[in-house]
Amino acid sequence: MFITFEGIDGSGKSTQARRLAEALRAGGRDVVLTREPGGSPGAEEIRALVLQGDPDRWSPQTEILLFTAARRDHLERRIDPALKAGQVVICDRFADSTRMYQGLREPGLRALVDELHRLMIGREPDLTFLIDIAAETGLARARDRQGTEERFEDFGLPLQQKMRDGFLALAQAEPQRFRVIDGMRPEAEIAGEVLSLTRRALG
Ligand code: ADP
Ligand code: TYD
Repeated sequence: MFITFEGIDGSGKSTQARRLAEALRAGGRDVVLTREPGGSPGAEEIRALVLQGDPDRWSPQTEILLFTAARRDHLERRIDPALKAGQVVICDRFADSTRMYQGLREPGLRALVDELHRLMIGREPDLTFLIDIAAETGLARARDRQGTEERFEDFGLPLQQKMRDGFLALAQAEPQRFRVIDGMRPEAEIAGEVLSLTRRALG
């Protein structure tokens, strides 16, 4: 079972991915908790390249290549081996993030993202939680963290709004894979809903 969390910056993905991993482990499941960009040593090096520096450091086209390169390494070295070994893989962001953050930045880019995904990745999650929150709330929470990985936050509110709308449209187009979760509620309440939906999917 391959489970991903998606949503705008600051929506609570990392928090919920961690809580789900803890809850499943407490129930005796063998769980790998990982994230993108990153999740393998090589992909973590690419992470620093794409998340630090000025917003105009890379063009969206170059970003598609970098995020896909990171994903390929992560898939080869971590995700595929874990799935083959029968582990549950929980990943904080995956290909849907590239479809949105790179694919929606200019007309025509979504087709490039999809083509490269088909050629180099070719795997979709079994279940994707979209944690949905207001763009203003997400940006405020993300900026409160005050780290060095601020490149996408520095694109500002219009980008976050566009990403939120795009994620909701993606979820609507693929209702069998996506579960849309209202992320404006208390953490524990969200975690309860995510766990019960996951248990249902695990059977
Ligand atoms: P993401 O991984 O989507 O960027 P995080 O899980 O890192 O989000 O959460 C961003 C910030 O918001 C953190 O400071 C976290 O403690 C806080 N947070 C997470 N979930 C909630 C929630 N349901 N309500 C309020 N604050 C939250
Ligand atoms: P992440 O560490 O999940 O940030 P946050 O906790 O703020 O949600 O991801 C960092 C940034 O990378 C985020 O702004 C979205 C961006 N990103 C892409 O643009 N494309 C991608 O394919 C991925 C995986 C992330």
